[in-house]
Amino acid sequence: MADPIILGIESSCDETGIGIVQGTTLLAHQVATSVDEHARFGGVVPEIASRAHLESFVPTLERALAESNLDASEIDAIAVTGGPGLIGALLVGSSGAKALAWSLDKPIYAVNHLVAHVTVDELEHGPLPEPMIALLVSGGHTSLMRVGNVVDDVETVGTTLDDAVGEAFDKVARLLDLPFPGGPSIDRAAQDGDPNAIAFPRALTAAKDQVSHRFDFSFSGLKTAVARWVEDRQRQGLDLPVADIAASFQQAAVDVLMIKTFDACEHYGIRDLQIGGGVAANSALRASVEERAAEAGVSVRVPSPHLCTDNGAMVAALGSKLARSGKPANSLDFAVRSSLPVSRVVL
Ligand code: KG4
Ligand code: ZN
Repeated sequence: MADPIILGIESSCDETGIGIVQGTTLLAHQVATSVDEHARFGGVVPEIASRAHLESFVPTLERALAESNLDASEIDAIAVTGGPGLIGALLVGSSGAKALAWSLDKPIYAVNHLVAHVTVDELEHGPLPEPMIALLVSGGHTSLMRVGNVVDDVETVGTTLDDAVGEAFDKVARLLDLPFPGGPSIDRAAQDGDPNAIAFPRALTAAKDQVSHRFDFSFSGLKTAVARWVEDRQRQGLDLPVADIAASFQQAAVDVLMIKTFDACEHYGIRDLQIGGGVAANSALRASVEERAAEAGVSVRVPSPHLCTDNGAMVAALGSKLARSGKPANSLDFAVRSSLPVSRVVL
């Protein structure tokens, strides 16, 4: 029997994503973003995001159906982000998803956004290795996970104690007057800079941190160190070497991510690594992980940048996995949850 066709809906932050997946084959991948509307505020404004989802939902759905050459009646199940994320934004996506599921009389899965970021890799690189270590790096999350299988065995082994790594990129970009979202801006600016120009701190990597925070992260001190360095320079009336600051900050952030991730691979004796989330689009991170993986004998999988940032295909990929594993669907009265732990793969 053919695998079921799953329509996935993502609306947890500032992207309205609709993807269609059958098995591990991507049939449609459409994203509308409200990023430009948030730019002048230097961060995502929840009310603006919710309204933008409302406006983009139907046009994005129509584009996805057109791309796949499918009629809505041919969809076998709906998957939607149930959390974590901005509550208003989640409510818009889940309301649309429930309306679709009800009118088409199809099952609905309310899935974990973070686990979806991990699962999307199957669309490009085939079934995920089991077990594996997964590093999720995004604007809202920095998590190291041990994944037995994405359907029902995901465990957080480390997380950020303060800012997410993407958030640090966004805040440092603001300090340097680079446009929002900060990650791509820093990545671009860093191309012309020297990553060793300024020695920014690598938090929680000292021997004393190995006891209680071996796999945890902290990025707020790094952001503050950049702010202090910039203030100091400005006080002296000197120009800011933006490219060097961007490159040195980026290297510090990437180094910490790599140290912890490969330490986790070693500690758990796991030789497969998957990296996902918006920051996985970072060119320094991608280069560094390839290099370290080769040294450590770890095989690493990173989705293409367009699947790393928020999208509906990742939600459909997880929905597809759940449906193929025979997991029960949710009832239509589920409530989205703005903070959902990764251990809850489905609401
Ligand atoms: O996964 P994502 O699209 O949304 C969340 O779930 O948060 O991640 C967005 C984050 C933002 O902080 C953005 O600045 C960062 O990913 N990002 C990057 C790059 N592209 C996006 N960070 C570093 N380098 C990039 N090239
Ligand atoms: Zn995300």
